[in-house]
Amino acid sequence: MRVAFAADHGGAELKAELLRRLAGAGHELVDLGGDGSDPDDDYPDFARRIAHAIRDGKAERGILVCGSGIGASVAASKVRGVRAAVAHDTYSARQGVEHDDMNVLCLGGRVIGPEPALDCARAFLDARFSGAERHRRRLAKILAIEAEER
Ligand code: RB5
Repeated sequence: MRVAFAADHGGAELKAELLRRLAGAGHELVDLGGDGSDPDDDYPDFARRIAHAIRDGKAERGILVCGSGIGASVAASKVRGVRAAVAHDTYSARQGVEHDDMNVLCLGGRVIGPEPALDCARAFLDARFSGAERHRRRLAKILAIEAEER
């Protein structure tokens, strides 16, 4: 699977660690920046990069890291077709994909340590949308909201 990564200054260190640890796990990892060198960079810029990569089919999934994960998820979910959420536990990271077709995992570099973050990333990447009727019905309702609101 092609997986895009991005982070603001609050998440760059965790992103770098995840990229290191997930290398060789069978995915194509694409680093869309940043490198954490600018303490004034803005998470919506990195959220946009990941979201556009998903929207344009350049990546199937994204992992986006800011300080809390919150701003990143709010910003990325503004792009049509992007379902980004914070998941700092493996149950949510897996179920977010299986039930909700989440395609961007957001993590807080100031909230979660590298080991549980890695577990969450693996749970997210290993999961697939269930395709169950009730999950497709709910996803269709999300897409209807998206279509109506923009
Ligand atoms: C940046 O200081 C911080 O506000 C950002 O990384 C993130 O936590 C926002 O949700």
